[in-house]
Amino acid sequence: MSAEHSSPTEAESAYFNSYPPPKALEKHEALARAFVAHHVEANRRVVLVTSGGTTVPLENQTVRFIDNFSAGTRGATSAEYFLEAGYAVIFLHRQFSLLPYSRHYSHSTNCFLDFMDEDDNGGPDGSGRIVVRNEYQDAMRDVLRKYRYAKNNNLLLLLPFTTVTEYMFELRSIANIMRPLGANAMFYLAAAVSDFFIPRHRMAEHKIQSSDIPEDVYTGYNDDSHPPAKSKKLIIDLDPVPKFLHRLVDGWSPANSMIVSFKLETDPNLLVYKARTSLQRYSHHLVIGNLLSTRKWEVVFVTPDPPYERWIRVPKARRSKSVSGIEDQIGLAERKDASQGASSATTTTTTTTPAVGDESAAGTTEKHAADGGDDSEHVDIEIESLIVPQLVAMHTKKIEQASRN
Ligand code: PMT
Repeated sequence: MSAEHSSPTEAESAYFNSYPPPKALEKHEALARAFVAHHVEANRRVVLVTSGGTTVPLENQTVRFIDNFSAGTRGATSAEYFLEAGYAVIFLHRQFSLLPYSRHYSHSTNCFLDFMDEDDNGGPDGSGRIVVRNEYQDAMRDVLRKYRYAKNNNLLLLLPFTTVTEYMFELRSIANIMRPLGANAMFYLAAAVSDFFIPRHRMAEHKIQSSDIPEDVYTGYNDDSHPPAKSKKLIIDLDPVPKFLHRLVDGWSPANSMIVSFKLETDPNLLVYKARTSLQRYSHHLVIGNLLSTRKWEVVFVTPDPPYERWIRVPKARRSKSVSGIEDQIGLAERKDASQGASSATTTTTTTTPAVGDESAAGTTEKHAADGGDDSEHVDIEIESLIVPQLVAMHTKKIEQASRN
């Protein structure tokens, strides 16, 4: 049966049977099992945060691969706010992408060496002790304490992946391991998962040669009857990655758990439509839509229940200027959708409605955004600090519902 005509369960078996499990899977499963058991015992909520981009190898013995832009900022930042809200976090992340807490002092934009100095009271040979520079003491102490707290209390489990296949195996296993958590489990799928890949049976085994063979080279090529012309091009033939969100919602995840996915677009005309389509297709609880150019300042919550669509924005005066993005595009996706939405009875666009069951700071911030910002405060706000408390409130409501049934 072809992949297009198989059921989600058949597609799952076909995919997972064609790959050996990742080498680290067994170890990760053991860690996840112990972590989940610990937090089930404590009746604590646990969120699985996925973060960063997956790679698509072009060769079995991989030298080259396709990657995407995601640095893991959304996932790493959100994980910190979940921890602050009392959750334990399983952080399933792309290896070497940003991590909760250490993200403040890593990678080239925040190189940890820039935060350090040599102590003036060095020895006669000039060997000063290494210290944190005075201006960073308070901020670093705060981050260090939170990091230590999470670590010492077994609240943060870091599990890395690299390829899209590793990601799939890990997601399936961890979701199953989380089952004893029931309604206390949340899935927050911020990873940028590859949409196209080369199935294993069509992948070149060795490093694809570039110069010392006289003809075209190709990987993933799907059709023997039409070999590529001999022009020394590299031709890559990719298949769609099976969509496993169905299986996560209907099979892998714990009963009554809350599932939040993301939708990224670059075209403001498409964002809300695509987010809504995803929600309808997978029947989960929330899609958070974001545009590549404005994702650090605004997102839209698309839900199956009223208000259906809610924008969350960092007020103008509190947007970080150090992040990349195009501020002029803020509001574009909402306006585009509002004009299309005139014919849609199911869409309500609001900028000032508070979170479902929540009168928290995030609602206030939306008001500020609608007002064009509050100049009295100049501390930058991370949008994840507005997103996470609203999810916590939605999760609380869901847990209460589950306990009544
Ligand atoms: O890391 P940053 O630079 O901070 O960027 C954050 C982000 C823009 C990557 C993030 O906010 C985001 O939008 N992630 C989802 C990107 C996306 O559009 O994914 P998708 O349409 O391919 O998938 C839809 C959802 O299903 C996503 O939540 C994805 O994580 C999840 N998914 C998709 C396919 C799959 N096989 N497994 C999945 O879990």
